[in-house]
Amino acid sequence: MESRLVDFYGRVARKLRLSVIDKCNFRCNFCMPENPEWIPNEKILAFDEITRLVRIFSTFGVDRVRISGGEPLVRRNIEKLISELAHIRPIRRLGITTNGFFLAEKAAQLKDAGLQSVTVSLHSLRPERFSFVTRVNSHSKVLDGIRAAKDAGFENVKINAVIIRGYNDDEILDFAAFAYEEGFNMRFIEYMPFDGKRKWGMDKVVSGEEILSKISKRYQIVPLEREAGSTAINYKFVDGGGEFGIITSITRPFCSDCDRIRLTADGKIVPCLFDIHEYDVASLLRSGESDLEISEYLKKIVKLKAPGVESLMKTSVELKHVRPMYRTGG
Ligand code: 5AD
Ligand code: SF4
Repeated sequence: MESRLVDFYGRVARKLRLSVIDKCNFRCNFCMPENPEWIPNEKILAFDEITRLVRIFSTFGVDRVRISGGEPLVRRNIEKLISELAHIRPIRRLGITTNGFFLAEKAAQLKDAGLQSVTVSLHSLRPERFSFVTRVNSHSKVLDGIRAAKDAGFENVKINAVIIRGYNDDEILDFAAFAYEEGFNMRFIEYMPFDGKRKWGMDKVVSGEEILSKISKRYQIVPLEREAGSTAINYKFVDGGGEFGIITSITRPFCSDCDRIRLTADGKIVPCLFDIHEYDVASLLRSGESDLEISEYLKKIVKLKAPGVESLMKTSVELKHVRPMYRTGG
């Protein structure tokens, strides 16, 4: 019997992105719609429902979990969930993607609970710009959060920046300098069509190639080997501390060895970000189905995972908004 989750294209699921809440204390203008409609509280999966699902996923060899949102640190008692997940034996890697606002106060607790890695979204190094985009006066708090994560003992704190033409593409070298001088792992992300206000267009995408060319004119860099299933091509500076990665989700998407599956906060499985289908596993959890029945369901729906953006690009289908990022957490 197949003991892994494999789709029609032979791709094996190994990583789970877990959105634990859709709400966020920021209103990043490339992410949130004007009036977000939040998932009603009773639909949000409870911790025991989440851990049960993660345990079932782990029996299929899914051994890396990344917690996201919305903003995951807005979820009450998140450290309790982290501790429960950290105790699921087969889970080898447990990380979080956060906007960093609450990190300064929570980093140590998260570490104690068993969290292993932290990625902070920081889309501008300029305080006014950052506050304008997030609509919260947040820049120094996020920087404090990043430092607190380092102090709490998280190695390899990653920083995410979505690069958008006309918004922060003039900061590419500043971000690179931030990684070079402070030893962070900076990740440049191509802008995807999952913005809440549906303003995305190819003209706003800054390609990985352009980002790389800017950085390599200033710094001596060497590429690192790409890990199978990784979304990023990583580089290190020859003579500096940090590293950086370029996530070419649009121009070079690596769909062919994608090993990720996503779960929304209300228990919908989204096998691919570009897939219009989502699969309601919450209703199975809540109607008394057995682990075996849920396992069979997971196998069935992972099989149906869409081929991904790579095949959309090949057929020159225009990329369309599917669902906003705050619902799947990236
Ligand atoms: N395109 C690319 N990345 C996005 N993110 C949010 N919206 C988008 C988008 N439209 C980022 C978040 C976070 C990561 C999970 O994805 O800011 O850093
Ligand atoms: Fe919140 Fe992240 Fe969306 Fe910004 S990008 S509004 S921090 S979920």
